[in-house]
Amino acid sequence: MTESRKRVAIPIRVETKAALPPDQRAAVLDAVQKHRRLEGALLPILHEVQGRLGWVMPAAVALIALELNLTRAEVHGVLTFYHYFRQRPAATHTIYLCRAEACQALGANGLAAHAERALGAPFHQCSADGRFGLEPVYCLGNCAMGPSLLIDRQLYSRVTAERFDAIIQELSAGTGAPRSSATAVGER
Ligand code: FES
Repeated sequence: MTESRKRVAIPIRVETKAALPPDQRAAVLDAVQKHRRLEGALLPILHEVQGRLGWVMPAAVALIALELNLTRAEVHGVLTFYHYFRQRPAATHTIYLCRAEACQALGANGLAAHAERALGAPFHQCSADGRFGLEPVYCLGNCAMGPSLLIDRQLYSRVTAERFDAIIQELSAGTGAPRSSATAVGER
């Protein structure tokens, strides 16, 4: 093919069929508008969408791709590369379990395996009822009193498997620290 007959890609805007509700669509478009001129705009846009909507749903991926003139696969690739981004609604309680070295030395690996078994969900996933999400974290600044957990902004120290079960039971019964009223990190 000669130089003069090279094919030129013409971007085509095609609206997604899986439309977002108007308020969510407005939030996504607002996030795009706010960050689109930045270099590497996709990450701040995804952060803002998750911050405002709680997760990044497939229809938001499609809309972001459309607005940035990217493919859905490109947006999806970034979304799935970072575990921080959620592709489903957040669990009622997210359990951040410290997997850093000091906590490991105090039994965090065994606790992690127990937590996965007890919740029936591996890290980065939610229990079947959607109430508990399990996420790794690398140091909560509570190293001498590990294994450490952070749940609903409440810090738990020296957590054993038995204590983990008791905490889950307490939260399931609604007797744990309510997420909305926990305004500061506390230690238990
Ligand atoms: S290593 Fe777990 S709190 Fe620091």
